[in-house]
Amino acid sequence: MKKIFPYIESFEKRAFGMFIHWGLYSEIGRGEWVYHMENMTPEAYKPLMDTFTAKDFDAEVIAKTAKAAGCRYITLTTRHHDGFSLFDTKGLSEFDVMHSPCGRDLIAEFCDACRKFDLLPMLYHTTLDWMHPDFNEDFEKYLEYLRKSVELLCTNYGKIGGIWFDGNWSKPDADWQEDKLYGMIRRLQPEAMIINNTGLDSRGKTGHPEIDSVTFEQGCPTNGNRHALDKYVAAEMCETMNDHWGIAVNDFNYKSPATMIEHLCLCRKAEANYLLNIGLCADGGFEPIQKEFLLLIGRWTDLFGEALYNTKPYRADQGSEFILKGNGKLYIVCMQRGIAGDGNVTVTKAEDGSSVFEGIAEKIKSVRWMDNKESVAFTQEGETLTVQLVPQRYGSSFCVRIAEAEIE
Ligand code: GLC
Repeated sequence: MKKIFPYIESFEKRAFGMFIHWGLYSEIGRGEWVYHMENMTPEAYKPLMDTFTAKDFDAEVIAKTAKAAGCRYITLTTRHHDGFSLFDTKGLSEFDVMHSPCGRDLIAEFCDACRKFDLLPMLYHTTLDWMHPDFNEDFEKYLEYLRKSVELLCTNYGKIGGIWFDGNWSKPDADWQEDKLYGMIRRLQPEAMIINNTGLDSRGKTGHPEIDSVTFEQGCPTNGNRHALDKYVAAEMCETMNDHWGIAVNDFNYKSPATMIEHLCLCRKAEANYLLNIGLCADGGFEPIQKEFLLLIGRWTDLFGEALYNTKPYRADQGSEFILKGNGKLYIVCMQRGIAGDGNVTVTKAEDGSSVFEGIAEKIKSVRWMDNKESVAFTQEGETLTVQLVPQRYGSSFCVRIAEAEIE
């Protein structure tokens, strides 16, 4: 019998999350790997702490914005590879937010705000530490430090959504004593998702039996082999808006909102969640373009989001169209860009046509576009459903447009 845990299913139903990278590196503005990439010394890097004020960090504004974007959870870096903690380490380390001018436990603020807005607080935590001497010199001792840090996250902030580890790929042959770490989380937070990023080289890889979701870093998720496990696990694809996780002020290589919306939908097609990243500015405020992109995506999820939450792929074999099922309906997702129009004004001209879906056992009562509720012509013969997915009219361009089918 396959083990199915409700907290994993409910995580999967949330569909869309916001990833936040923020730390001392944000003050430099050249990505979260800057310490490593520029061969900085601890002496040069650590003083960034003396100017870390977090004066613009308002967890409620962040939660409100995530909500407006259509996100249902937020994953925040509590500690990244540079070793600096955004939480009160209660004496474990002096390299934390309580020893900076900020002096606030930012993870407490974050968790409270998430819960206030009905979002799941997910805590990213590095396992690789560039700053802690024990990481290379006394790994056993380092692992104790890691476990104590995670214990704080599991005991001081009420019920959390989960812990998102990252960094085991840095020592692939080491014994990370995962049993101990995960066992402790299970004891303290029985319903917390345990995720451990498998990195760019091992997307979708399943690992320790306590892991609750596979990860696809920066890549198109597939259904993969996770269904072969004797426990049902979720999947999640995390992605940057441009080429960096932590803010990089000279990174202009932004994906378009259309691409992000498409990736969100393609994740759902592959039974995965989409975790879209932003990098906060040095003082914890939004980077304005990233915020606007989130809000634009939110206008799209206002129209079509219902199709993505609480649903599962149903007929995903079709080319640019596929069907999700849930909420007592079928949702026909049309990935075509382009609109119908006049050759003199319309650049991306879409073709007219009908789409055929086989194996639809449900009797379809009606089909209509979710945005304007206009009905869509269809016929159903046996289990063959033919839908007339006419191009979008001049005046709008949804990129991904979704029709909902009511079942008799
Ligand atoms: C990578 C990077 C890291 C980033 C993470 C997000 O593993 O090391 O900087 O936080 O991916 O998925």
